[in-house]
Amino acid sequence: MVSAAPIPRRTSLNWHLRHHAGVPDSLRHLLVDLSRAARDIRHEIHASEGGLSGGTNIFGEQQLQLDVMSDQIVEHYLRENGSVASFCSEEHDDVVDVRPSAEYSVVFDPLDGSSLVDANFAIGSIFGIYRGSVIIGRTPRELIAAAYVLYGPRTLLVYSTGNGVHAFVLNEVGEFVLLREHLGVADKGKNFSPGNLSAIHDRPGYKAALDTWLSSHTLRYSGCMVADIHHILVKGQGIFTNVGGAKYPDGKLRLVFECGPFAYLIEQAGGASSDGAQSILDVRIVRTDQRSPIIVGSAVDVEQAAKQIGR
Ligand code: AHG
Ligand code: MN
Ligand code: MN
Repeated sequence: MVSAAPIPRRTSLNWHLRHHAGVPDSLRHLLVDLSRAARDIRHEIHASEGGLSGGTNIFGEQQLQLDVMSDQIVEHYLRENGSVASFCSEEHDDVVDVRPSAEYSVVFDPLDGSSLVDANFAIGSIFGIYRGSVIIGRTPRELIAAAYVLYGPRTLLVYSTGNGVHAFVLNEVGEFVLLREHLGVADKGKNFSPGNLSAIHDRPGYKAALDTWLSSHTLRYSGCMVADIHHILVKGQGIFTNVGGAKYPDGKLRLVFECGPFAYLIEQAGGASSDGAQSILDVRIVRTDQRSPIIVGSAVDVEQAAKQIGR
């Protein structure tokens, strides 16, 4: 008698969304479609020269930059999905209507850290999902899901639908399988990750916070928000900042695509987020390209830094 091949013991993202998160099928399908987009983006990163050689390939032809390609890949899956009412991304000026009567709207940064592509540093994608078709006027507290993908030596996906933060790794057959469940962030950190650092010249509070960390914390900063915040979630501690100075009065990062989804994920993991005055989750979205200062990570560190730095 020929015995059947053994079924591999692994938990897929689809299984986890269905049995652990217990989300409605429509939300599960949407998150799985976003993971498919990420798998295709990962393929483009490896298969194309986009961005690697400064815009032209070995034949001297102009290539689509990876961030534009990544945006098109995500848009393709969103249009195909059927439950997407609207979306907005860093690469579009406005909210794009898809099917206004559908259930969800999606906000995303298709490629975070795109200036690092030629250096071959880790880069990422960031996603947030709201119920309904409206994005302007909402706050990130209304997110019903957020996820990011980190394209490093391995490709990882981390998501939350309000029931903890869970990490998956892309396997060799293109499926995300469970790596770790319930990532947590301790109240006190040992690492610091300071963005928009030139603001220390304009903001004495930022300089003071930095002086504190220089004697108590260890620097971990790559220049890709996805990688830098993933470091906090995986090490279970740390603080990430990008606050305002003379050049960027509200810091460099966008509320809708960057700060909001990460504030949701870090607060889900037991950490805190602040714009210097309130949780990032309570900052109202008035424009798609709105920037917000962000202080995020270990709760005690965030609280102290927010007091020092202010809004
Ligand atoms: P993007 O590539 O989507 O424009 O984002 C880059 C961002 C973010 O990933 C990173 O934290 C920040 O730019 C870096 O800021 P500094 O230049 O202040 O370090
Ligand atoms: Mn970005
Ligand atoms: Mn980007």
